[in-house]
Amino acid sequence: MKISVIGTGYVGLVTGVCLSETGHEVTCLDIDEKKVQSMRNGISPIYEPGLDEMMKRNIEENRLFFTSSYEEGLADKEFVFIAVGTPQSKDGSADLQYLNNACRSIAESIQNDVIVITKSTVPVGTNEHVKRTIESHMSRDFSISVVSNPEFLREGSAIHDTFHGDRIVIGSEDEESLERVKKIYQSFELPILTTDLRSAEMIKYASNAFLATKISFINELGNLCERLGANIENVAKGMGMDQRIGSKFLNAGVGYGGSCFPKDTNALLSIGNSVEYNMSIIQSVIDTNEKQQRIIVDKIKQFIPDLTNKKVGVLGLAFKPNTDDMRDAPSIKVIRELVDSGADVYAYDPIAAENARIYLPGATVYRESIDETLQDMDFAVIMTDWKQIKEYPLDQFRTQLKNPVVFDGRNCFPLAEAASHGLQYHSIGRPS
Ligand code: UGA
Repeated sequence: MKISVIGTGYVGLVTGVCLSETGHEVTCLDIDEKKVQSMRNGISPIYEPGLDEMMKRNIEENRLFFTSSYEEGLADKEFVFIAVGTPQSKDGSADLQYLNNACRSIAESIQNDVIVITKSTVPVGTNEHVKRTIESHMSRDFSISVVSNPEFLREGSAIHDTFHGDRIVIGSEDEESLERVKKIYQSFELPILTTDLRSAEMIKYASNAFLATKISFINELGNLCERLGANIENVAKGMGMDQRIGSKFLNAGVGYGGSCFPKDTNALLSIGNSVEYNMSIIQSVIDTNEKQQRIIVDKIKQFIPDLTNKKVGVLGLAFKPNTDDMRDAPSIKVIRELVDSGADVYAYDPIAAENARIYLPGATVYRESIDETLQDMDFAVIMTDWKQIKEYPLDQFRTQLKNPVVFDGRNCFPLAEAASHGLQYHSIGRPS
């Protein structure tokens, strides 16, 4: 099938590359010419394990193309995926400017009937708006059908999630288009849920908001466990054994970050407000997360009230492992507060350090290894549960640090082991 994908961020690029991998002819379209040039050479603008190899293979086999021209990108295509960003506006709602631009450009450049498939996370009702916008800007009369096909992939495991996700959701009022879009995914062997347009749009927000709720819930419970001498890991294990609850997404920590949960929970709140419905659970989830992102600073100040000139080694900066994404990473708030409190911050991340420079205070000193980050520090803080951090020998913390004090925002180590290595180890939701 001939497919065009507009937008080569996480969702667009991974979708385009994976669809080409299954044999479709895919042209990825992005208005950023520099990015397009480097993608033509098989260089992915995002860090995603396995993506570069898959890109190169499909470029070589003439199934995957990149362009910044809408005329070229849309020529002869029966399907046009929209996968542009829908960032958070100042008022919390989803900013649809890139989507609107894409719709107008589609309208100006199409040469045949198309099915427009929205992958971007968009407020309920947006696909109808997409159809109206394209139709009202078209100079010739082509048939435009719209289908909502939200994306559920996670950064860091995006390729795996595309091929082995739990479901594919396709929503439309047009039965024929639904059937044709289903055929794109024929070789995926995943359950396909077909539904109406608005429900498909809502499924995406509902899923992300529910996952965010699970995280804020377990974090709040963790804070309570600390005060009552219980251990959140044992509690989560016991809860997760109930299949109605499930064991996933019950890891207490420094709160959720990234480009999706913070943005989508705020957007859902704003969608509720737009129809005068107060989403009080979602508001609490957001508030709890705001507090949780700072919780490690509260803990530090409880034990070390004066941070002036204290040297802090921060391990992990990205919002989660296996990504260089710093958007809404809890490390940003924590490092800002440490620096504002007079501490000297030395930081390490296996791959996110370069992006981190955009977000972190200029005073932050970047280190190349865990050893170097810990040397002579007054204490250490763990912000991301990278494999190399979780596998770092505990006795090394003791030998490298000036004081054997570790504040772990990701519960990387068993309590008993940390204690047996003589560490003063403070984690989340577990007894200190
Ligand atoms: C999330 C969803 O998991 C995807 O299904 C969705 O497609 C994506 O958003 C999106 O909307 O595009 P992602 O943001 O890549 O994916 O990351 P997650 O793996 O979901 O983690 C999000 C945050 O929650 C991270 O900061 C992580 O550290 C935190 N988290 C996750 C916890 O604190 N505890 C947990 O138990 C799980």
